[in-house]
Amino acid sequence: PEKTICVVGSLNVDLVATASRIPARGETILASSFAIRFGGKGANQAVACRILGIQTNLLAKIGNDDYGRQAMERLADYSVNTSMVTKAELEPTGLALIVVEDETGENIITVVSGANVRFSSEDVLRHRFAILSCSICLLQLEIPLDTVRKTIEIAKRENVKVILNPAPFQLLDDKILSGIDILVPNKLELESLLDLHIPDSKCYSNDESEIGAMLHVVDRLQRKFQNLALVITLGKRGCIVCPQIESKHFEAFLIEPYISTPHAVDTTGAGDCFCGALAVGLIEYGNLLEAARFANIAAGISVTRQGTQESYPSREQVEYLLTDNQIARIK
Ligand code: RIB
Ligand code: NA
Repeated sequence: PEKTICVVGSLNVDLVATASRIPARGETILASSFAIRFGGKGANQAVACRILGIQTNLLAKIGNDDYGRQAMERLADYSVNTSMVTKAELEPTGLALIVVEDETGENIITVVSGANVRFSSEDVLRHRFAILSCSICLLQLEIPLDTVRKTIEIAKRENVKVILNPAPFQLLDDKILSGIDILVPNKLELESLLDLHIPDSKCYSNDESEIGAMLHVVDRLQRKFQNLALVITLGKRGCIVCPQIESKHFEAFLIEPYISTPHAVDTTGAGDCFCGALAVGLIEYGNLLEAARFANIAAGISVTRQGTQESYPSREQVEYLLTDNQIARIK
Protein backbone atom coordinates (compact mmCIF):
# COMPACT_ATOMS: atom_id res chain seq x y z
CA PRO A 1 0.00 0.00 0.00
CA GLU A 2 2.92 2.36 0.65
CA LYS A 3 3.67 2.39 -3.05
CA THR A 4 0.11 3.18 -4.04
CA ILE A 5 -1.26 6.44 -5.45
CA CYS A 6 -4.81 7.60 -4.84
CA VAL A 7 -6.33 9.87 -7.48
CA VAL A 8 -9.42 11.79 -6.37
CA GLY A 9 -11.05 13.49 -9.31
CA SER A 10 -13.14 13.60 -12.43
CA LEU A 11 -14.10 11.08 -15.03
CA ASN A 12 -15.43 12.09 -18.45
CA VAL A 13 -16.15 10.67 -21.85
CA ASP A 14 -14.34 12.74 -24.47
CA LEU A 15 -16.01 13.56 -27.78
CA VAL A 16 -13.03 14.53 -29.90
CA ALA A 17 -13.14 16.22 -33.29
CA THR A 18 -9.87 16.77 -35.12
CA ALA A 19 -9.89 19.74 -37.50
CA SER A 20 -7.42 21.74 -39.56
CA ARG A 21 -7.69 24.48 -36.97
CA ILE A 22 -9.61 25.58 -33.89
CA PRO A 23 -12.74 27.48 -34.98
CA ALA A 24 -13.06 31.18 -34.21
CA ARG A 25 -15.96 32.59 -32.21
CA GLY A 26 -19.17 32.29 -34.21
CA GLU A 27 -17.52 30.18 -36.90
CA THR A 28 -18.50 26.75 -38.22
CA ILE A 29 -15.79 24.48 -39.57
CA LEU A 30 -15.66 20.87 -40.77
CA ALA A 31 -13.75 18.23 -38.81
CA SER A 32 -11.46 15.74 -40.51
CA SER A 33 -12.14 12.97 -37.96
CA PHE A 34 -14.03 12.10 -34.81
CA ALA A 35 -13.41 9.76 -31.88
CA ILE A 36 -15.06 8.88 -28.58
CA ARG A 37 -12.44 8.38 -25.89
CA PHE A 38 -12.28 8.02 -22.13
CA GLY A 39 -10.93 10.98 -20.23
CA GLY A 40 -11.48 13.34 -17.35
CA LYS A 41 -8.45 14.74 -15.58
CA GLY A 42 -8.82 12.37 -12.63
CA ALA A 43 -9.20 9.21 -14.71
CA ASN A 44 -6.37 10.32 -17.01
CA GLN A 45 -4.00 10.83 -14.10
CA ALA A 46 -4.93 7.44 -12.67
CA VAL A 47 -4.25 5.74 -16.01
CA ALA A 48 -0.91 7.55 -16.34
CA CYS A 49 0.17 6.32 -12.88
CA ARG A 50 -0.93 2.77 -13.58
CA ILE A 51 0.75 2.50 -16.99
CA LEU A 52 3.94 3.74 -15.34
CA GLY A 53 3.72 0.73 -13.06
CA ILE A 54 2.27 1.94 -9.75
CA GLN A 55 -0.86 0.55 -8.02
CA THR A 56 -3.55 3.21 -8.31
CA ASN A 57 -6.89 3.84 -6.61
CA LEU A 58 -9.38 6.13 -8.31
CA LEU A 59 -12.15 7.91 -6.41
CA ALA A 60 -14.63 9.43 -8.84
CA LYS A 61 -18.31 9.57 -9.79
CA ILE A 62 -19.97 8.30 -12.95
CA GLY A 63 -23.56 8.42 -14.19
CA ASN A 64 -25.87 5.40 -14.30
CA ASP A 65 -25.38 5.05 -18.07
CA ASP A 66 -23.50 3.23 -20.81
CA TYR A 67 -20.71 5.77 -20.96
CA GLY A 68 -20.11 5.29 -17.25
CA ARG A 69 -20.06 1.51 -17.57
CA GLN A 70 -17.73 1.62 -20.57
CA ALA A 71 -15.37 3.98 -18.79
CA MET A 72 -15.22 1.57 -15.84
CA GLU A 73 -14.41 -1.34 -18.14
CA ARG A 74 -11.61 0.63 -19.72
CA LEU A 75 -10.14 1.53 -16.33
CA ALA A 76 -10.32 -2.13 -15.34
CA ASP A 77 -8.37 -3.02 -18.52
CA TYR A 78 -5.64 -0.71 -17.26
CA SER A 79 -5.91 -2.37 -13.79
CA VAL A 80 -6.82 0.87 -12.05
CA ASN A 81 -8.65 0.05 -8.80
CA THR A 82 -12.13 1.51 -9.36
CA SER A 83 -13.96 -0.21 -6.51
CA MET A 84 -14.48 3.18 -4.85
CA VAL A 85 -16.01 4.86 -7.89
CA THR A 86 -19.64 5.69 -7.12
CA LYS A 87 -22.65 6.29 -9.33
CA ALA A 88 -24.91 9.35 -9.48
CA GLU A 89 -28.55 8.41 -10.00
CA LEU A 90 -29.70 11.51 -11.87
CA GLU A 91 -26.77 13.07 -13.67
CA PRO A 92 -25.10 11.48 -16.67
CA THR A 93 -21.40 10.68 -16.84
CA GLY A 94 -19.34 13.81 -17.44
CA LEU A 95 -18.65 14.76 -21.05
CA ALA A 96 -15.88 16.77 -22.64
CA LEU A 97 -16.25 18.38 -26.06
CA ILE A 98 -12.80 18.64 -27.57
CA VAL A 99 -11.41 20.06 -30.78
CA VAL A 100 -7.82 19.12 -31.62
CA GLU A 101 -5.97 21.20 -34.20
CA ASP A 102 -4.27 18.91 -36.69
CA GLU A 103 -1.17 21.04 -37.37
CA THR A 104 -0.14 21.81 -33.80
CA GLY A 105 -1.86 19.14 -31.69
CA GLU A 106 -3.27 21.95 -29.55
CA ASN A 107 -6.86 21.80 -28.33
CA ILE A 108 -9.85 23.51 -26.80
CA ILE A 109 -12.00 21.67 -24.27
CA THR A 110 -15.44 22.34 -22.81
CA VAL A 111 -16.45 20.07 -19.95
CA VAL A 112 -20.08 19.24 -19.17
CA SER A 113 -19.61 18.12 -15.57
CA GLY A 114 -22.68 15.88 -15.11
CA ALA A 115 -22.06 13.30 -12.38
CA ASN A 116 -18.75 14.92 -11.40
CA VAL A 117 -20.64 17.70 -9.56
CA ARG A 118 -22.29 15.03 -7.39
CA PHE A 119 -18.94 13.70 -6.24
CA SER A 120 -19.26 14.85 -2.64
CA SER A 121 -17.14 15.13 0.47
CA GLU A 122 -19.30 12.32 1.96
CA ASP A 123 -18.19 10.04 -0.87
CA VAL A 124 -14.60 10.80 -0.03
CA LEU A 125 -15.14 10.36 3.69
CA ARG A 126 -16.77 6.99 3.12
CA HIS A 127 -13.77 5.82 1.12
CA ARG A 128 -11.10 7.52 3.17
CA PHE A 129 -9.11 4.30 3.56
CA ALA A 130 -8.42 4.34 -0.16
CA ILE A 131 -6.59 7.63 0.50
CA LEU A 132 -5.03 6.77 3.84
CA SER A 133 -3.45 3.58 2.55
CA CYS A 134 -1.47 5.53 -0.08
CA SER A 135 1.69 7.57 0.02
CA ILE A 136 0.49 10.17 -2.50
CA CYS A 137 -2.90 11.67 -3.25
CA LEU A 138 -3.43 13.40 -6.60
CA LEU A 139 -6.12 16.05 -7.09
CA GLN A 140 -7.39 18.37 -9.84
CA LEU A 141 -10.29 20.84 -9.87
CA GLU A 142 -12.98 19.24 -12.05
CA ILE A 143 -14.93 18.20 -8.94
CA PRO A 144 -16.52 20.37 -6.22
CA LEU A 145 -14.05 22.36 -4.14
CA ASP A 146 -15.56 20.98 -0.92
CA THR A 147 -14.64 17.49 -2.07
CA VAL A 148 -11.08 18.65 -2.72
CA ARG A 149 -11.00 20.28 0.69
CA LYS A 150 -12.21 17.15 2.46
CA THR A 151 -9.70 14.99 0.61
CA ILE A 152 -6.84 17.24 1.71
CA GLU A 153 -8.09 17.17 5.28
CA ILE A 154 -8.14 13.35 5.28
CA ALA A 155 -4.76 13.04 3.58
CA LYS A 156 -3.11 15.41 6.05
CA ARG A 157 -4.21 13.23 8.97
CA GLU A 158 -1.77 10.50 7.94
CA ASN A 159 0.81 12.60 6.16
CA VAL A 160 -0.21 11.43 2.74
CA LYS A 161 1.53 13.76 0.26
CA VAL A 162 -0.95 15.93 -1.65
CA ILE A 163 -0.33 17.01 -5.24
CA LEU A 164 -2.85 19.43 -6.73
CA ASN A 165 -3.17 20.31 -10.39
CA PRO A 166 -5.34 23.48 -10.30
CA ALA A 167 -7.15 22.75 -13.58
CA PRO A 168 -9.64 23.92 -14.62
CA PHE A 169 -8.90 26.90 -12.43
CA GLN A 170 -11.04 27.64 -9.36
CA LEU A 171 -10.10 30.12 -6.65
CA LEU A 172 -8.30 28.39 -3.80
CA ASP A 173 -8.47 29.60 -0.22
CA ASP A 174 -5.52 29.65 2.17
CA LYS A 175 -6.75 26.56 3.99
CA ILE A 176 -6.55 24.51 0.80
CA LEU A 177 -3.20 25.96 -0.23
CA SER A 178 -1.66 25.27 3.17
CA GLY A 179 -2.63 21.60 2.89
CA ILE A 180 -0.93 21.04 -0.44
CA ASP A 181 2.58 19.69 -0.73
CA ILE A 182 3.09 20.20 -4.45
CA LEU A 183 1.12 22.51 -6.72
CA VAL A 184 1.36 21.86 -10.45
CA PRO A 185 -0.06 24.85 -12.35
CA ASN A 186 0.59 25.98 -15.89
CA LYS A 187 1.37 29.65 -16.44
CA LEU A 188 -2.29 30.69 -16.82
CA GLU A 189 -3.25 28.91 -13.62
CA LEU A 190 -0.35 30.50 -11.75
CA GLU A 191 -1.53 33.92 -12.94
CA SER A 192 -5.12 33.24 -11.89
CA LEU A 193 -4.02 31.98 -8.51
CA LEU A 194 -2.38 35.29 -7.68
CA ASP A 195 -4.67 37.40 -9.81
CA LEU A 196 -1.86 38.94 -11.83
CA HIS A 197 -0.50 38.87 -15.34
CA ILE A 198 2.99 37.67 -16.24
CA PRO A 199 3.93 39.19 -19.61
CA ASP A 200 5.40 36.74 -22.11
CA SER A 201 8.99 36.42 -23.15
CA LYS A 202 9.17 39.16 -25.78
CA CYS A 203 8.25 41.87 -23.23
CA TYR A 204 11.46 41.85 -21.21
CA SER A 205 14.70 43.79 -21.29
CA ASN A 206 18.09 42.10 -20.85
CA ASP A 207 18.29 41.55 -17.15
CA GLU A 208 14.70 40.35 -16.77
CA SER A 209 12.92 37.34 -18.18
CA GLU A 210 9.59 35.63 -18.15
CA ILE A 211 10.97 32.83 -16.04
CA GLY A 212 12.41 35.39 -13.64
CA ALA A 213 8.97 36.96 -13.38
CA MET A 214 7.40 33.59 -12.66
CA LEU A 215 9.94 32.87 -9.95
CA HIS A 216 9.14 36.21 -8.40
CA VAL A 217 5.48 35.20 -8.20
CA VAL A 218 6.40 31.80 -6.78
CA ASP A 219 8.50 33.54 -4.14
CA ARG A 220 5.49 35.50 -3.00
CA LEU A 221 3.44 32.35 -2.73
CA GLN A 222 6.12 30.37 -0.94
CA ARG A 223 6.78 33.10 1.57
CA LYS A 224 3.19 32.63 2.67
CA PHE A 225 3.04 28.84 2.28
CA GLN A 226 6.47 27.66 3.31
CA ASN A 227 5.76 23.97 2.85
CA LEU A 228 4.52 24.40 -0.68
CA ALA A 229 6.61 23.18 -3.60
CA LEU A 230 5.65 24.12 -7.16
CA VAL A 231 6.22 22.60 -10.53
CA ILE A 232 5.13 24.99 -13.28
CA THR A 233 4.43 23.30 -16.58
CA LEU A 234 5.37 25.32 -19.66
CA GLY A 235 4.16 23.09 -22.47
CA LYS A 236 6.76 22.85 -25.21
CA ARG A 237 9.20 24.83 -23.08
CA GLY A 238 9.49 22.18 -20.37
CA CYS A 239 8.82 22.96 -16.71
CA ILE A 240 10.16 24.86 -13.73
CA VAL A 241 10.74 23.10 -10.42
CA CYS A 242 10.57 25.16 -7.22
CA PRO A 243 11.24 23.00 -4.15
CA GLN A 244 9.71 24.07 -0.85
CA ILE A 245 11.41 26.97 0.87
CA GLU A 246 12.52 24.92 3.85
CA SER A 247 14.30 22.30 1.82
CA LYS A 248 18.06 22.65 2.02
CA HIS A 249 18.30 22.63 -1.73
CA PHE A 250 16.15 25.63 -2.36
CA GLU A 251 16.94 26.28 -5.94
CA ALA A 252 14.69 26.44 -8.92
CA PHE A 253 15.47 24.42 -11.99
CA LEU A 254 14.35 24.66 -15.58
CA ILE A 255 13.89 21.30 -17.17
CA GLU A 256 14.27 21.52 -20.91
CA PRO A 257 11.61 19.96 -23.07
CA TYR A 258 12.17 16.45 -24.24
CA ILE A 259 14.38 17.51 -27.15
CA SER A 260 13.78 14.92 -29.81
CA THR A 261 10.04 15.61 -29.72
CA PRO A 262 8.92 16.10 -33.31
CA HIS A 263 5.99 18.44 -33.54
CA ALA A 264 3.12 17.56 -31.27
CA VAL A 265 0.20 15.61 -32.76
CA ASP A 266 -2.19 15.69 -29.78
CA THR A 267 -1.54 17.50 -26.53
CA THR A 268 -4.86 16.52 -24.91
CA GLY A 269 -4.25 15.26 -21.39
CA ALA A 270 -0.51 15.94 -21.49
CA GLY A 271 -0.85 17.87 -18.23
CA ASP A 272 -2.58 14.88 -16.66
CA CYS A 273 0.19 12.59 -17.85
CA PHE A 274 2.68 15.00 -16.31
CA CYS A 275 0.93 14.97 -12.92
CA GLY A 276 0.53 11.20 -12.83
CA ALA A 277 4.16 10.72 -13.79
CA LEU A 278 5.28 13.29 -11.21
CA ALA A 279 3.61 11.21 -8.49
CA VAL A 280 5.16 8.01 -9.82
CA GLY A 281 8.56 9.72 -10.07
CA LEU A 282 8.32 10.85 -6.45
CA ILE A 283 7.63 7.32 -5.31
CA GLU A 284 10.45 5.91 -7.42
CA TYR A 285 13.13 8.56 -6.90
CA GLY A 286 12.00 10.25 -3.68
CA ASN A 287 13.12 13.60 -5.05
CA LEU A 288 11.12 16.36 -6.71
CA LEU A 289 13.67 17.31 -9.33
CA GLU A 290 14.13 13.74 -10.54
CA ALA A 291 10.37 13.24 -10.45
CA ALA A 292 9.84 16.34 -12.59
CA ARG A 293 12.42 15.17 -15.14
CA PHE A 294 10.60 11.87 -15.34
CA ALA A 295 7.22 13.64 -15.73
CA ASN A 296 8.61 16.02 -18.34
CA ILE A 297 9.66 13.09 -20.53
CA ALA A 298 6.42 11.18 -19.99
CA ALA A 299 4.28 14.16 -21.03
CA GLY A 300 6.68 14.87 -23.90
CA ILE A 301 6.15 11.38 -25.27
CA SER A 302 2.37 11.62 -24.86
CA VAL A 303 2.06 14.67 -27.14
CA THR A 304 3.79 12.83 -29.98
CA ARG A 305 0.94 10.29 -30.09
CA GLN A 306 -2.76 10.58 -30.89
CA GLY A 307 -5.27 10.40 -28.08
CA THR A 308 -5.04 10.93 -24.36
CA GLN A 309 -4.87 7.82 -22.16
CA GLU A 310 -3.85 5.74 -25.18
CA SER A 311 -0.86 8.03 -25.71
CA TYR A 312 0.65 7.59 -22.23
CA PRO A 313 4.05 5.87 -22.11
CA SER A 314 5.32 2.97 -20.06
CA ARG A 315 8.05 3.21 -17.44
CA GLU A 316 10.62 1.69 -19.80
CA GLN A 317 9.86 4.20 -22.54
CA VAL A 318 10.35 7.11 -20.15
CA GLU A 319 13.50 5.74 -18.54
CA TYR A 320 15.04 5.09 -21.92
CA LEU A 321 14.91 8.82 -22.72
CA LEU A 322 15.64 10.12 -19.25
CA THR A 323 19.42 10.06 -19.50
CA ASP A 324 19.58 12.64 -22.32
CA ASN A 325 17.29 15.20 -20.74
CA GLN A 326 18.93 18.49 -19.76
CA ILE A 327 18.42 20.45 -16.58
CA ALA A 328 19.55 24.02 -15.92
CA ARG A 329 19.90 25.70 -12.58
CA ILE A 330 18.09 29.03 -12.67
CA LYS A 331 18.47 30.39 -9.17
O1 RIB B 1 -6.96 17.20 -19.46
C1 RIB B 1 -7.65 16.57 -20.49
C2 RIB B 1 -9.02 16.22 -20.04
O2 RIB B 1 -9.73 17.40 -19.74
C3 RIB B 1 -9.88 15.50 -21.03
O3 RIB B 1 -9.76 14.11 -20.98
C4 RIB B 1 -11.29 16.00 -20.72
O4 RIB B 1 -12.15 15.01 -20.25
C5 RIB B 1 -11.09 17.11 -19.70
O5 RIB B 1 -11.34 16.69 -18.42
NA1 NA C 1 -1.45 12.61 -26.88
